[in-house]
Parts: sequence; structure tokens; C-alpha cells
Amino acid sequence: MAEFRLPANSTIKKGKYFKVEGGAKNIRKFNIYRWNEESGENPSIDTYEVDMDKCGPMVLDGLIKIKDEIDPTLTFRRSCREGVCGSCAMNIAGTNTLACTKASGDIKGDINIYPLPHMKVVKDLVPDLTNFYAQYASIKPWMQTVSPTPSGVERLQSPEDRAKLDGLYECVLCASCSTSCPSYWWNSDKYLGPAVLLQAYRWLIDSRDEATGERLDDLEDPFRLYRCHTIMNCTSTCPKGLNPAKAIAEIKRMMVERQG
Ligand code: SF4
Ligand code: FES
Repeated sequence: MAEFRLPANSTIKKGKYFKVEGGAKNIRKFNIYRWNEESGENPSIDTYEVDMDKCGPMVLDGLIKIKDEIDPTLTFRRSCREGVCGSCAMNIAGTNTLACTKASGDIKGDINIYPLPHMKVVKDLVPDLTNFYAQYASIKPWMQTVSPTPSGVERLQSPEDRAKLDGLYECVLCASCSTSCPSYWWNSDKYLGPAVLLQAYRWLIDSRDEATGERLDDLEDPFRLYRCHTIMNCTSTCPKGLNPAKAIAEIKRMMVERQG
């Protein structure tokens, strides 16, 4: 029978409160999801007061300040801190986004931070992306060719063909889109999700790739591709301003066109 309530051990409890010391005037509260499997405790929301006059402008700056100065046990991923590695994706103020490109000043009230939704949590704000990366590998995200490699030159592409990759190559595989998608929430074992399908389209549309037919064959499946029901959360949430829903629609169009 379907279970509509959270199991008792995953109910989120009120956590610790960390007060800022010493007369700060510009204080904001960061309410952050905490969970550590090793503790055996339920998840909690810990609240950290942060002196914004001594903190950088982005949400990631706040997280780093908390980890450095208040609570070193807080766990999250980050690397580039400028929106190119995709590792700091999390749910901030109700939207999946990159902590390093989301300004705290754009958020009204407390800054509520959770891990990406509907993913197994490794610890605190770190989701388990094993399945996501396995799905990415499954679309063979590299150029496949059968024709001989031209000697002494690269495989060339016209400016027009290169332009077809715009809006696709910028994807940083942050998983914000896939984890905002209800179809992916319920069927992530079989549905590839918007991020991986956008990547699949990036190779389908690349004029240099010579495996288009095989790539389409691999996607021709009621779940892998067609579990997309055009809900559009993916496009609304993408922190890079990309349009995975359009890429999925283009793959479906290619499927229809090859029938005729
Ligand atoms: S399409 Fe956007 S939201 Fe989705 S993985 Fe790529 S960058 Fe992230
Ligand atoms: S730290 Fe690299 S995208 Fe945010």
C-alpha cells in the first residue's frame, strides 16, 4: 500500500540555534537541514545567525562562513564558487539552484536551505548522485564516429552547426532540473530526467557525431525519454538559464521525423 507519511525516523526536528556574538547590526538567519546517518538521530533544522556585514554576498559565502567560524560539522559540496562546476546545487528558499550564484540579498526573510529534493542524502546538504551520474554515463556523452579521423586536422564544424550547441554546452550537470521534476522524483530508476536528456540532445545535434541512430534507439523507451510530461519545472529552475524541456521536445521531434 502506498505510504503517504514520512517514516518516523525521517521527520524533521527542531535543531540547534547558534547566536551571533557581539553587537552585530545586520543579522540574517540561515535555517539549514542537518542529517548525519552515523548519529542515528532524525534530521533537524539548525539555525545560524550570520553577521552579513562580515559575509560575502552569495548564499555560499554564508555557508562557508558558518563552516569556518561557527560549526565545522556542516557539510556541503562546493568547488569553483562561480557557477561552473555545478557542485553547490541545493534547495534555497524553495528553489533548486547554485549556492554560489544565488545572492542572499535576493531572498526575503530567513534563508532556508535543504539538499536537492527526492535524493538520498549522504550528509546534511550532500545528495547521493550515484544514479544521476550512472544515467549520464548511459547516454555515452562523448563524440562517436565511424568515419576515419582526418589526418592532421580536427573534425571541423561550420559556425552554424557550432551554434546549435549553444544553450546545451553550458550545462554544468548540477542536477537542479532533474531534482525539480515530479516525473524524475517518482521514476528516477527508469526515467533519465531533464539534465541527462539535455546532454543526450547535445550529442544528437552535434554535426560531428555519427551515432545519431543508435542514440535515438537507446532513448526510444516509455520511461527513459517518454516519462517527460512537459511539466516544465526543469526550465523554470535551471540556474544557468537553460531550457531542458525544449531539448526533450527536440528529441521527441527527432523520433517522429525518423519514422517518416
Ligand atoms: S540543465 Fe541547468 S539545471 Fe539542469 S543540470 Fe544543466 S545546468 Fe543544472
Ligand atoms: S561552487 Fe561551482 S557551481 Fe557553485
